[in-house]
Amino acid sequence: MSFTSALLAEAKVSWQGWALLMFVVTLALGRAFPNRAHRRLPASVWLFIVQLVLLVVTALLAALGHRAVEETRLAQQVTLAMAWVGLSGALLFGVILPRTRFPVSRILQDLVVGAAAVAVIAAVLHNHGVALSGLFATSAVVTAVIGFSLQDTLGNTIGGLALQTDGSVRVGDWIKVGDVVGKVTEIRWRYTAIETRNWETVLLPNSSLMKGPVTVLGRRHGQPEQWRRWVWFNVDFRYPPPEVIAAVEQALRAQPIDNVAAEPAPNCILMDLHESYGRYAVRYWLKDLATDDPTDSAVRTRVMFALRRAEIPLSIPAHALFVTQESEERKESKSASDRRRRLDALRHVELFAPLEDDELERLADALHPAPFTRGEVLTRQGAEAHWLYLLINGDAAVRVAKDGIDTEVARLGPGSFFGEMSLMTGEPRSATVVAQCDIECFRLDAAAFRDLLERRPQLAEPIARLLAERRANLAAVTEGLDAEARRRRMESDSSMLFKKMKAFFKL
Ligand code: CMP
Repeated sequence: MSFTSALLAEAKVSWQGWALLMFVVTLALGRAFPNRAHRRLPASVWLFIVQLVLLVVTALLAALGHRAVEETRLAQQVTLAMAWVGLSGALLFGVILPRTRFPVSRILQDLVVGAAAVAVIAAVLHNHGVALSGLFATSAVVTAVIGFSLQDTLGNTIGGLALQTDGSVRVGDWIKVGDVVGKVTEIRWRYTAIETRNWETVLLPNSSLMKGPVTVLGRRHGQPEQWRRWVWFNVDFRYPPPEVIAAVEQALRAQPIDNVAAEPAPNCILMDLHESYGRYAVRYWLKDLATDDPTDSAVRTRVMFALRRAEIPLSIPAHALFVTQESEERKESKSASDRRRRLDALRHVELFAPLEDDELERLADALHPAPFTRGEVLTRQGAEAHWLYLLINGDAAVRVAKDGIDTEVARLGPGSFFGEMSLMTGEPRSATVVAQCDIECFRLDAAAFRDLLERRPQLAEPIARLLAERRANLAAVTEGLDAEARRRRMESDSSMLFKKMKAFFKL
């Protein structure tokens, strides 16, 4: 028999045509869905190549009439069977099942592929007349010996299988086992891999997960995954708890903080009473469990700024209070330097340039410090107005929302003021002003502003001019005015606003 006819005969016996087709289809699908290309694919490709080599060797031996042809044929068919199983597994678990969104755990995949390989190899051996009963008797003894010596490994394996099938711990969950907290990245036969926030990977034997308690963080039946966090702070007894709680809750809820859930809303409670201060806690729900410390820090910053705006200081430990007990002299010098700062701030606002010293001093007394942290909203478009703001340090963006689109119309820097439009026209806030960094402001209430205008009617005109300019800029965004239309709008608005203001303030 020639080599070519022997090769063709061998190829026919082992259905090489179908095998080749399966090989090509799987490779093509693996290429078409690279993300889902299965980890079993490379080994199957190698097995397929090996069986091709064995096929050629078998044909060669057959052409030469060699006795070993039966053994190589058996080896080729077993290899081919394994390649078939591997390719089918890759196709099923790598391409088809992911498309149906029917997740199959890695361990279950291994089990299915393993069982299929045993069945197919048994069938091939049976076809070649190998007695399987003897083989099974020997393997039962071997299994018993191995099983005995590998008790721990079996415990881990069964643990892994149980974890994957009952879904109690899933890949992606954040769990706490003993002192280890981390995100589950893999559940393998022997261990479960956890990545911690410190950039470590901890391999927990599955049997230990089965034995001790495991806390799955942020999981609650029927609720989104979010984890309650506590942020603590202390405030002196002199400040009534309802005021502290209201100031903190208002600041935390007014503007969303990254990774803080809106529902349940963050809340603040008085948790304990100590010698000289109350111990408060903010509880909030963290959405991305990886960012616990940075989000705690953002919440803490909000709390700090809210308390500073409400002029509520964080408590000083009682013993420090006795040491630094304030003398009258010290108090006076503190309030004098505070006043100087306010006056200084007022002198940097161009609008108040015409004011005499005594007018500035009266104005300084009416100012309230209003620090804001990055991202906080100072005025919200459409809200009722109560304050005029003077910006001392930092930047704020003026944003306008129209038809669901939010546009920045201006940037305000140190020395500018805002919030005058509503106070002067009685209309709701025309824009949202957002702190771009930690900023320092003073605010002046509506009554003090009115008092200032009544005393100094000359201020009304420059304010009306600025107001007209700002309104025209806003109209450019909301009504799409071009430069010329904007200029005309400004001119006509300026005198109209001046008259309106005079009437509104009875100047
Ligand atoms: P008010 O409408 O009370 O609240 C929002 C404030 O944003 C507004 O007053 C102005 O002070 C300010 N503002 C609105 N539009 C502009 C603008 N185009 N340029 C600068 N500031 C503006």
